[in-house]
Amino acid sequence: MYSIALISFCFIFLINYTFQQGQGSFEVREHSVTRPYASVFSTSNSNWDLTGNTIVTDKFIRLTPDVQSKAGGLWNRIPVYYPDWEMHVQFKVFGEAKTLFGDGFVIWYVRDPKIAGPVYGSKDFFQGLAIVMDTYANRNDDYSRTFPYISAIVNNGSLHYNHDDDGFNLTVASCESHFRGRDTDTLVAIRYQDNRLTVSTDTEGQNKWTECFSIADINLPTHYYFGFSAATGELSDNHDIISVHTYQLESSEERRKEDRTGILPSAPTANMGSDNNITSKPKGWSVLKIFAIVALLIITILVGVGILFYMKQRRYHSSRLY
Ligand SMILES: *[C@@H]1O[C@H](CO)[C@@H](O)[C@H](O)[C@H]1NC(C)=O
Ligand SMILES: *[C@@H]1O[C@H](CO)[C@@H](O)[C@H](O)[C@H]1NC(C)=O
Ligand SMILES: *[C@@H]1O[C@H](CO)[C@@H](O)[C@H](O)[C@H]1NC(C)=O
Repeated sequence: MYSIALISFCFIFLINYTFQQGQGSFEVREHSVTRPYASVFSTSNSNWDLTGNTIVTDKFIRLTPDVQSKAGGLWNRIPVYYPDWEMHVQFKVFGEAKTLFGDGFVIWYVRDPKIAGPVYGSKDFFQGLAIVMDTYANRNDDYSRTFPYISAIVNNGSLHYNHDDDGFNLTVASCESHFRGRDTDTLVAIRYQDNRLTVSTDTEGQNKWTECFSIADINLPTHYYFGFSAATGELSDNHDIISVHTYQLESSEERRKEDRTGILPSAPTANMGSDNNITSKPKGWSVLKIFAIVALLIITILVGVGILFYMKQRRYHSSRLY
């Protein structure tokens, strides 16, 4: 009795300590993948499907090898029945190439899983959320993204993901993140709670999350599917998934009772024709800036005149004394 209590206490403590999720959140086994993979994929009723060129070793699940024209996926079979969740993905992106490599991989939460297509090996006109872990800049005009780059894309199924501009005008939020070719473990965390989407990374081997972005008013239904996919074309890289831990988060009573199955994915800033987090060039002079500069100029002139006047006065006095 005592030992059971102690063990459960340790267990709860460990969960809380490790993931700091607060009360009421717990890991969902069927939406997680951990080593040994044999136990994940061997049974006929596995919760995960492998598609395309994906291979599983005892150390990683490789969506694509560092070889041209490959595509692979790892897709969950169980719809996500809870509205609020957090997913931690340990991954590794690396390859032989020093400068030309690509293209990255995507973490999906979509209505239609397992359909091969042109968006990192998966379906275009998808319905749901894509967290794009982009390693290659397809656009080479002067837009000031530095890669690798993480962006969130929300699609209601009627919008085309333009790979040639890295989904530029579907991007809801984004940040730069140097996750490729690291010696340290690289992790990304995606939290969806109360319609707020927060993406954080841990790529420095410090065991610490750094926020990439956090954005409100993201509407996503329940009962979509988690998945991962990657594709190589002329450029290639190894795209490995090491582990996936998914947690069901505590939801408000209102949210738990709400039927969220019919919600059409939407985001406030998606498809506005611009990316809200691309470091834009200064957009001309703001009124405040002009005012500040004029004020500074006037002060400088006044001080200058003051000094001249003072010196003149001094000279005047001096000449009177001597
Ligand atoms: C999908 O989103 C786009 C852009 O916000 C909008 O124009 C379109 O009507 C939406 N489609 C549906 C089916 O709501
Ligand atoms: C924009 O990107 C910067 C760093 O690249 C990040 O700190 C910030 O949170 C991002 N903001 C949004 C709204 O995505
Ligand atoms: C997205 O941007 C491209 C140009 O890069 C433009 O041709 C296209 O019409 C835009 N799509 C939407 C839905 O705004």
